[in-house]
Parts: sequence; structure tokens; C-alpha cells
Amino acid sequence: MTPTKSRSYLWVDDLSPERTLQLFSQAKQIKKNIKNGIHPRFLENMQVALVFSEASTRTKMSFQLAAQRLGAQCLVIDNVKSSSMSKGETFDDTFWTLHSIRPDLFVIRCGGDDPLAEVAAQSEVPVINAGFGSKSHPTQALLDAFTMQEQFGKFQGLKVVFVGDIDHSRVAASDIKLLKEFGADVKICAPPHFRQKTDLGAENIETLREAIEWCDVYMGLRVQFERHSDETQGVLSQQDFIDSYSLNAEGLERLGSKAIIMHPGPVNWGVEFDPCVQKDPRLLMWQQKENGVYTRAALMEELLKG
Ligand code: CP
Repeated sequence: MTPTKSRSYLWVDDLSPERTLQLFSQAKQIKKNIKNGIHPRFLENMQVALVFSEASTRTKMSFQLAAQRLGAQCLVIDNVKSSSMSKGETFDDTFWTLHSIRPDLFVIRCGGDDPLAEVAAQSEVPVINAGFGSKSHPTQALLDAFTMQEQFGKFQGLKVVFVGDIDHSRVAASDIKLLKEFGADVKICAPPHFRQKTDLGAENIETLREAIEWCDVYMGLRVQFERHSDETQGVLSQQDFIDSYSLNAEGLERLGSKAIIMHPGPVNWGVEFDPCVQKDPRLLMWQQKENGVYTRAALMEELLKG
């Protein structure tokens, strides 16, 4: 649990499992309302500061849209080159500069070495973690779990496998923690040098074929080439990865008819997934992205309105 002056959301356990399930009920209501053209203005006249020092499409746009749908306005830094960070201003100084002009909420994506937890602990303004290096991405865990709940109605015993680049995936770190708290049966399927993190508590399935035949939820993960060291790149070629860990037409035939396929995005097509996966009706990637708006709206309401 993160000690914070204000209520922040940096890790999935900053909300209890019970409170997270209540948040899903609220997200469901917000989804229904927005689909019916009703935009509850929970955040009327509020100012949300979006600070993204690492690239993003889905997370940034869904937070911005959700905030605007709820009546808030957004202040955005999403290009380090156009901010004073390009002149060497540190993450801390950037944060406290914005803190001093008093937004109502921060939504921050930053590198794993940035002192996100430290500034959030001192902040009088709530902070939401929108992706923290390879460490955590708790709002992705919210939208992924919400999407699974919509499909299966329960988590207890749900068989979820995370395939691929586990070590560099902040999504795997946050999703696995949250799903295990909800009672899901979570495993991974990854080459040895992509599963050195030992604290996830998820058993490895040796072959992709076994993983596909076992799971209710197949979660592909982006191979994060930009976070690999030269050492990692030398161990396993991209073609080796594709041969052993890519979901392809043969894998789709083995996957259960009621199973679902997910991916946090962006996808390296031809690497984690063969392009034929795009047409498979079990792929729920677009629902995940849409649900990002509703779950993030519910979270912002939770932190600002309680
Ligand atoms: N899944 C996810 O975080 O995507 P973006 O990097 O595009 O926000």
C-alpha cells in the first residue's frame, strides 16, 4: 500500500479487491449511460493534468476522453521536447511546478527510475499511475479484469495465461497481482530469459500448445524490444520467439471455443500474434480499449468524489 497524503492509485492494491469490484459496478453504469448518450458530469469544473513522458496512445486518449466526458478539462504534457524537461528539468521539478498551479488530479506515465511513488506520497493532489516503467500499469489491470468479468461473470478459478515478454511487461505485473487477488488461476508461458521475475507467483507452462489448451483467457504481451538489453537480444532471435510463442492459425484451432484472446496493445503483428488472429471473433482487444474509458472514468470519480 502506498502511503499518500491524498488518495492516489499507483498499485492495484491501493484499492481493496472489494472496492475494485464496486468500481467495476460503477464502470458498468458509466458504460451504460454513455452508450445511451447520458454523460454524468461527476468532474464538472475540475482540471486533470496528464503528464506522459513515455509514449502512449490508448492510455492517454482514454483518460483524456473519460475526463472530458465527465465534465473535466485537461492540461496535457505528452511531448517531452515541448516541455522544460527538454531543458533538463527533472521529473520532481516538473511535478512540483504543476502541483503549484493546482490541478485537481494528476495522471502520470513515466520511467521506472522516476520518483513517482515519492512525489505521490507528498502530493496534496491525487495521482494516478498511467504506466510506470516496467514496474506497474494498474489501470490496464482494471480494464483487463473488467473485460474478463463482462465475458465470464466471475474470476474464481478462471484460467488466465500471460504469454511472452513477462519480465518487461508492467501489464503482466499489475494484471497478475489483481487477478490472483480475485481468485483467478493465473499462469505464464514464456522463454526462460523473459521470466526471471520471481515475485509474480505464477507457474510457467512449458509449451504454447499446453497453454492454449489450458486457458480460458489467452493474454498476449508485446515483446518490448525497446527495453531489451543487448544481452537479452543475443539469447533468442525474433524468429525463435515467433516459432515457439506466437499465436497462429494452428493455435486458434486448439483454443477453446469459449476462450477469449486479449492483448494490452500495441501489438507487434507477426510476432505475438499472426495477422490471422485479427479476424478471430474471440479477440477482445477492441473491447479492452473501449473499457479503458469506463474503468478510468470510474477511477477518477472514485479518487475525486470518494
Ligand atoms: N496498453 C497501453 O498502455 O497502451 P498505450 O501505451 O498505447 O497507452
